[in-house]
Amino acid sequence: MHLPLPDDFHAHLRQGDLMPGYVRDLAAQFGRAIIMPNTVPAMTSAKAIAEYKKEILAAAKDVRPDFEPLMTFKLNPNYTEQDLKDMMAVGVVAGKYYPAGVTTNSADGISDFEGIFPVVAMMEKLGLVLCVHGEEPGEFCLDREPAFIKRVETLAEKFPKLKIVFEHVSSAKSVEAVKKLGPNVAATITVHHLMMTLDDIVGDALRPHHFCKPLPKRPEDRAAIRKAAFSGSPKFFLGTDSAPHQLGKKECPCGAAGVYSAPVALPLLVQEFEKAGHLDKLPDFIAGFGADFYGISRTTKQVEIVKEPWTVPATVNGVVPLAAGETLEWKIKR
Ligand code: DOR
Ligand code: ZN
Repeated sequence: MHLPLPDDFHAHLRQGDLMPGYVRDLAAQFGRAIIMPNTVPAMTSAKAIAEYKKEILAAAKDVRPDFEPLMTFKLNPNYTEQDLKDMMAVGVVAGKYYPAGVTTNSADGISDFEGIFPVVAMMEKLGLVLCVHGEEPGEFCLDREPAFIKRVETLAEKFPKLKIVFEHVSSAKSVEAVKKLGPNVAATITVHHLMMTLDDIVGDALRPHHFCKPLPKRPEDRAAIRKAAFSGSPKFFLGTDSAPHQLGKKECPCGAAGVYSAPVALPLLVQEFEKAGHLDKLPDFIAGFGADFYGISRTTKQVEIVKEPWTVPATVNGVVPLAAGETLEWKIKR
């Protein structure tokens, strides 16, 4: 079966020695990807982002020479309009809003919501997308996302021309909110939130490699996310939030949040859409609606995927991937 080559509208590649391997895993499955800025140090300047992009392109070269990283910056209240323009000139398409302390490398995130409005207004004016990690600090873990919805509604109301992506929606309430808001508000959906509930993390055993933010929630939340993904609504598209952490950073007393789905994303998506009887909705979900929302042209590239069982390795580049050790039915033909 041929499919359009997927775009990943939310991926983490880290930095340093580990980064090239993660880039290759991602570029093997995707033609373009939104690269998240929660590196250490964070991506906050045109200079750093240009350098990071160059390193990503160099790492992708052997796997997919035409791989396109779509760059982002980490939002803070201090940018000038010129800073934003300089970042756009090096390939930045979006800024990422991390509330303080809600996920990996977000201690430097936002705690003064209104304090970011001036920069958000500049983003609206310049046509930069605002990607939002929608979890309210300080709330009970399962309530953090629902508690944040009001902030997304406020942003949508105050900045009607701003494009907002409610990243990795994990609750039925957020799906409903995104549907109700205007066409400038969309959501990404991850492979793991399509597949898992909280039971898959702590139901019968503690599964640290499934632990991520926002937490997968109740069966009815997963059902709402699946319905949205299979609905053919242009407001919902793929962003894997593939987030590699080395095995030792997950299997320890204070484990990091993140699911490494890049090595298995497309085979799992084909499996899930096929199982649900909605394979016809997959092309737009993986390679249509996201591009439309970001205002970039849809890909003309294709990928071939074949029914050929294979077993997902126990580790990939030192990380335990999603579905490690499981046999998947679909395989990308190289
Ligand atoms: O589980 C997560 N991991 N959620 C995020 O929002 C960030 C990510 C990471 O960077 O590891
Ligand atoms: Zn993320």
